[in-house]
Amino acid sequence: MTLAERVRYPDFHSRIMTAQEAAALIPAGANVGMSGFTGAGYPKAIPLALAKRIEAEHAAGKSFRINVWTGASTAPELDGALAKVDGIDMRLPFQSDPICREKINTGKMQFNDMHLSHVAQHAWFGFLGHLDVAVIEVLGILPDGRLIPSTAVGNNKTWLDLADKVIIEVNSMVPEAMEGMHDVYYGTALPPHRKPIPLTQPHERIGEPYLRVDPAKVVAVVGTHQSDRNTVFAKPDEVSQKIASHIIDFLQAEVQKGRLPKQLLPLQSGVGNVANAVLAGLQDSPFEGLTGFTEVLQDGMLDLLRTGKMASASATAISLSTAALAEFASNLDFYRERILLRPQEISNHPELVRRLGIIGMNAMIEADIYGNVNSTHIMGSSMMNGIGGSGDFARNCYLSFFVTPSLAKGGSISSIVPMVSHVDHTEHDVQVIVTEQGLADLRGHSPTQRAELIIEHCAHPDFRPALRDYLARARKGATGQHTPHLLNEALSWHQRYVDTGSMR
Ligand code: COA
Repeated sequence: MTLAERVRYPDFHSRIMTAQEAAALIPAGANVGMSGFTGAGYPKAIPLALAKRIEAEHAAGKSFRINVWTGASTAPELDGALAKVDGIDMRLPFQSDPICREKINTGKMQFNDMHLSHVAQHAWFGFLGHLDVAVIEVLGILPDGRLIPSTAVGNNKTWLDLADKVIIEVNSMVPEAMEGMHDVYYGTALPPHRKPIPLTQPHERIGEPYLRVDPAKVVAVVGTHQSDRNTVFAKPDEVSQKIASHIIDFLQAEVQKGRLPKQLLPLQSGVGNVANAVLAGLQDSPFEGLTGFTEVLQDGMLDLLRTGKMASASATAISLSTAALAEFASNLDFYRERILLRPQEISNHPELVRRLGIIGMNAMIEADIYGNVNSTHIMGSSMMNGIGGSGDFARNCYLSFFVTPSLAKGGSISSIVPMVSHVDHTEHDVQVIVTEQGLADLRGHSPTQRAELIIEHCAHPDFRPALRDYLARARKGATGQHTPHLLNEALSWHQRYVDTGSMR
């Protein structure tokens, strides 16, 4: 199929150009809203062309940087390429690219790590500055100029509404049969005019399948034929299988106690290998008729849909491995009935997460003995990826799980520590902590009760004596007995790792 056949709005044909020509329309210093969420639906040609242009400008002694706003993480062609040429000044709201990470952690790039549900409204409120350009990947353009979204919706609606200029990439590799899988809600308004979002079931449609754009703002249309990042997930190992089985046993017990229905409540699953493995574990669980209300649909959830364990899933992006993508593409009629992709302000909306009673399962870097969680920072200073949607869900869901292997870096680090080196989720938002060692149900407990549960159920046996010792001494020496800490010592675990390469 030719590009002209995918671009069915005749007026846009005269605006078809090369990626280089389109990249030339982005000025230095611009705030650029790009599509893309967890390696899906990001523009693939224009950021690369822009990176080349920036490199040439820098070689000529000129300064050229832009601010990049997206839905979430993208891929080497976008984050990697622009970061490599030092082309990004401010990046928001999430990234997972190794070059970006290195630039952020060496202070060469600013990073605004935001709750993903906040981004659209912060842009509308004007907190982020003015949006100059939107660069949006779609799978096609309708005869009336509306856009057919691709594998991620993310913040595209907001970028298209707010930007002065719009550049569209039409990716002919995205199957046309995805048309109809999207649900773009246009009912959001700014306070004091906000109304309740009319969604009461995960699979309810509340919007329309297309993105609106003012054709007068469209300055370029570029054709691409390229696949998404196609994340490779590690095969679930023994550690992640144990984490999954602790969660499943716990959920079964909750059903028996009458606190959860047999088909559970809608599931949210975070990013990363462990989160994916938990979903894989649900495949062999006794639960039937599950539903998903999540932000990113990874291999594990697609598999649950394929086998019928899960009836439907709502997300903002589909981020699959190459093998899962092939399965998805060859059974699109089946999946179109079961998957809805929405803007991330809806997929992650606190109002909906609370109303639907989501079961949130997110991976973390470390937790402390009182239940505070660090999802983002290594040794308190270096950014890993970002908070993503974990806070949108954890703060508002019915049940909030945080999972991690009990050891990191070959056993030299305990993921359970006296005090986290950075806090993303406070003790008030963390209900259940799970490692391969076991599960600590923190609901209804005081900090010191939680500490005992976390140390005995979640910490690795090698680190339990030191944690018990810390707690015992804190109970004697702390200034207060509600959350006893020896402040000078609490963070010394991390410093010991920095100094010696081991917490042991
Ligand atoms: N101390 C130091 N480093 C640690 C650590 C700890 N306690 N725990 C993990 N790490 C390191 C690992 O060594 C690994 O680094 P490496 O690649 O250099 O070896 C890295 O963190 C990722 O760990 P891994 O065990 O592979 O976990 P993962 O793929 O399951 O990802 C998070 C875990 C926390 C990084 C990831 O889930 C994340 O970014 N979460 C925040 C965003 C989020 O939750 N989004 C959810 C809504 S979609």
